[in-house]
Formats: sequence, structure tokens, C-alpha cells
Amino acid sequence: MKKTFGILFLLLFFGQVTVGFGQENKGFYQFLNDDPTQKPFFSDKKGVFAKNGMVASAHPEASRVGTAILQAGGNAVDAAIAVQFALAVVHPAAGNIGGGGFLVYRAKDGQSHTLDFREKAPLAGSKDMYLDASGNVIAGLSMTGHLASGVPGSVDGMVRAHERFGSLPWAALLQPAIDLAQNGTVLTEKEALGLNRIKADIVRLNPQKTYLLHPDGKNWQKGDLWTQADLAETLKRIQRKGRKGFYGGKTAKMLLAEMKKGVGIISKKDLKQYQSVWREAIVGTYKNYKIITMPPASSGGVALLQLLRFVEPYPLKKWGWHADSTVQVMIEAERRAYADRAKFLGDADFVKVPVQELTDGAYLKSRWADFNWDRATDSKALNGGNLPGYESLETTHFSVIDRDGNAAAITTTLNGGYGSRVLVGGAGFLMNNEMDDFSVKPGVPNMFGLIGNAANAIAPGKRMLSSMTPTIVEKDGKLFLVVGTPGGSTIITSVFQTILNVLEHGMTIQQAVNALKFHHQWLPDMTTFENGAFTENTINKLKARGYNLNTQKNTIGRMDCIMVLPDGTLEGGSDPRGDDTSVGH
Ligand code: GLY
Repeated sequence: MKKTFGILFLLLFFGQVTVGFGQENKGFYQFLNDDPTQKPFFSDKKGVFAKNGMVASAHPEASRVGTAILQAGGNAVDAAIAVQFALAVVHPAAGNIGGGGFLVYRAKDGQSHTLDFREKAPLAGSKDMYLDASGNVIAGLSMTGHLASGVPGSVDGMVRAHERFGSLPWAALLQPAIDLAQNGTVLTEKEALGLNRIKADIVRLNPQKTYLLHPDGKNWQKGDLWTQADLAETLKRIQRKGRKGFYGGKTAKMLLAEMKKGVGIISKKDLKQYQSVWREAIVGTYKNYKIITMPPASSGGVALLQLLRFVEPYPLKKWGWHADSTVQVMIEAERRAYADRAKFLGDADFVKVPVQELTDGAYLKSRWADFNWDRATDSKALNGGNLPGYESLETTHFSVIDRDGNAAAITTTLNGGYGSRVLVGGAGFLMNNEMDDFSVKPGVPNMFGLIGNAANAIAPGKRMLSSMTPTIVEKDGKLFLVVGTPGGSTIITSVFQTILNVLEHGMTIQQAVNALKFHHQWLPDMTTFENGAFTENTINKLKARGYNLNTQKNTIGRMDCIMVLPDGTLEGGSDPRGDDTSVGH
């Protein structure tokens, strides 16, 4: 049957032909029939439903802040800005003002826009800055400490987003974060554990500072009230002066003094010059759905479209969720997309990124030519294609839909958990370690095991390649899904699977988020999967075809998504793997 389908596949691949298999939809229940003792979900968490607006984010306080802004008459961008600043206070592992990110925005009129507020390499940065005299990577230098940071983009990004699409006064959007920093936030168990986990690094890298530490020197506990007075003052400067409250004046002086103290290289000129950029969204189709996603400097959008187009001709719905055939084509799609990512993707302001070519049907068909049902493709033998002519989950994503149907998807990060673990003295915020997302040496994996090449080499003022994939999906021309997640290299595959869980397997958005995930990224040639994601049957069949499978100790993804139901009701789907919470009104 599969061989017959292989021939059909070649005939139909990317030909915009609807494959009329007309089969029953076993959907994800096939999985349960396969082995009724196993469940396809991480938990049975239920979605949150509301009529007028929804915010889904990694922290309940941040979601409440966003929804309060919506209730006060703010639009999706207003709410997103308030959430971004609130997360910088309540979710320090990834929420930030010292990092960067990407916004995908679909206005109620259907126009889409993306904002790239990714960090940039400092002007004093250079290709070999993390290599020793023999050309070897100096372990950890791009990951912790002052030299690991790119020039932060988040504050500039929020200012630009507000200038263009905001409706409430800027000051009102900062106030909830200031209140949270000043009056304190009650620690969740996960946030307390996170702070305790990094205590040794914080003490080592921040002598004479007390940020992130319990005032009594103890470990943090769930329920402790945590205040951040210096961060509150920094947020007030941003509130009063906008961009200049961060990239100039007192905050900039503190940041530059911090760099000097730790032999960092971010300069006054770097701060002055930093600018986020409005870019044209990557827009493609999957069946009758429109996919609106992020262009470079993220690789996420290109890879997501490649993945969807690779699997589009196959009857995933008929085969069923995580059936061996379904998983096999998804793994092979992931293998090819990540190989292309390594070869071709980088900051499009510096290198030519062949976005059209990489998502072109004929090219993708050629990439699929060596697909073989009987045998896993060998990653070592598969390089990026020939064109004519990443434990850390510590990025964070949030989704917002307002009363009018404006939708914002933002993924933002310090890169690794708590970034470089350096806090700016006097200003109280964490700096990113985003420089590790560059390819510090061709062929040497970064912290997510991702391999890069010249396209993602360090250059002064260049943006490091990202996997962040904030994405909006339209169905029949109408807003349907807002999706995204943290997870380093697993971001792209988690977004891919969550979208397919809804589009092919008939899950609600909360089920799609709850559903167990797997990941393959070309190299290492290994499919990792959350415990229970595959039945024994699927595992045995895939192993027999040469697939390397490994149960993942850590969870995959922390999705925060929203789905628009046929009657216009919004369903918030927030990941049970974290404190993630949807709040609607
Ligand atoms: N720092 C993770 C990413 O941008 O992909």
C-alpha cells in the first residue's frame, strides 16, 4: 500500500491537487486503539473559553495583565506589550528586557506584519570571537558571562510595535509590570525551583549583587513574595522615556558599566544603533489553510512551511496520530528541513537566504527523492539541498486575540534559561546569551545541538539565526489559530506538530498542546520523544526501518496558543508542562 502511495505521491506532490482519499478519520483515536493503556496527552488540562479576547502565556500573572489591558479597551498589540514587560518581571528565565524576539501580527483587516526585534552581534564582535588560538571553541564563552550577550532588542521592539499599532498610552502598558516588580510577585513552584537551580551561577557571575537571591540567603519556596526594586526603577525609566529609557540615559550607563566590569563588548554605539525591523511575513498554504509566519532572522517560518509542504500530500488523518507512517514522514521532513536550515539560513540583512527557493514545490520534491519507506534516510549522507542558482526551554511565547479579531503571536527569549546569568548592576535585569545562536564555528553544535555554517557566522551588527516560530493560521480566509512555543531547536517541530494535531487529527487547541511531542533535527540523527508519545508498535516498526529513537527525559514545548471556534468563541490552549495559563474575557 505504501509503495503504491509512493507513486501517487510523486504524481501529486505539490501539485495543488486535493488528495481525495475519502477515508474515515480515525484521528488520534487510532493511537488509543493501538494500545488503550497509553494516552496521547501530557495531561487532560482543559481549554479556556471566552468571547471577547484571550491571552495565553507562560505565567498566570502575565496573562491576567494582558487581559486587563484588553478589558481596558486596549488592542492585541497593547496587550502583547504589557505581557512582554510583565513576563520580564514574573518569568525571568525567558521573559526579558535584556533579550529579543519576533512578533507576527495579523490585523482584523487580514493584513499581516512581522517585527524582528532579535538581538544583534555587538559591533566589536567577530567570526572567531569564541575560538582559542588553535581555532577551538572555548567552552561556555558564548553561553555564560558578559561576552555571551547580543545587543538587546526587546525594548526597541515594543516601542516600534506601539508606535505603529498601539492604541493605549505607552505608560499604561508598563504600569502592570512596574507594579509586579515593586509590590512583588508570588512565586510559583516552578519559578522558585528555577531560581534555586541557577543560584550558584548567579552568585559567581554577579559579585556584590543580590538579584534573584532570597533576602535571607535561603532557597526560594512556592508562595514567597519576590520584589525587584531596581528592575521597577528601570521599567519606570522605560515608561517615562520610551526607547531612551533603555538605550540611553541611566539604564544604558549601567549596562555599559556592567559590560566594562565583565569585559563584555556591547558599546554605547551598539545601543544607539539598535533598531528592530518590520519585515514581510512568510505566507504559504497548507491545504485550505493560510500559514503566516516569521521570516529570517528566524529559521522558524521557512522550516515550518517546508515541513508542512513535505507532508501535505500524505493522508496523515487516515493513518492516525503518531501511527508509524505518520511519524515516519514527519521525521523525514524534519531531517531535511533542519539540514537546509544549517546550510542556508542566517540573517537576511547579511546573507542571501533563498526563502522562495527553499519552499518551492519542485525543490521540495527533489529533496524527497531519496525518501524510502523501508529505511530511514542517513543524516550523515544528507546535506543541505542543492538549489538552482536547539534542557533549555527558555524562550517564551504568548498569543493574544482582541475583541476586534486582531491577533498577535510573540516569541521572545534570553536564549538559555536566565540568559547569560549576568544581571546589569543597578538596573536589575538579566542579559541574554543569544550569541550562542550563531554558528561559533562551522560544524560545531550550539547548546541545542544545532549545526550551522557560513550563513550564520558572527559578523558585527548581524542577527543570530533563531528557531522561534510565532505563527498565525487562517482557515477559509478567517483567523483560525495563533501558535508558538519556546524550546530552542524543538520550537519548529513543536509548532509543526501542534498545527497538524488540529488540522489533521481533529484535536482542540488545548488537546493539540497537551499532546505528547517528538523531535528530529537532522543531526544528531536521533528522534527524541516525550515518554508515552509512541506506542510499542510504532517504536518497533520505526526501529525495524532503522530509526534511532530515544525517550526524552525533559518535556518538549511549552505552547501558548489560541483557536477561533466556528461561532467566534476563542479557546486558549496553554501548556500543562509549565505554569502556562490562558485568561479570557
Ligand atoms: N534562542 C533560541 C532561538 O532563538 O531559537
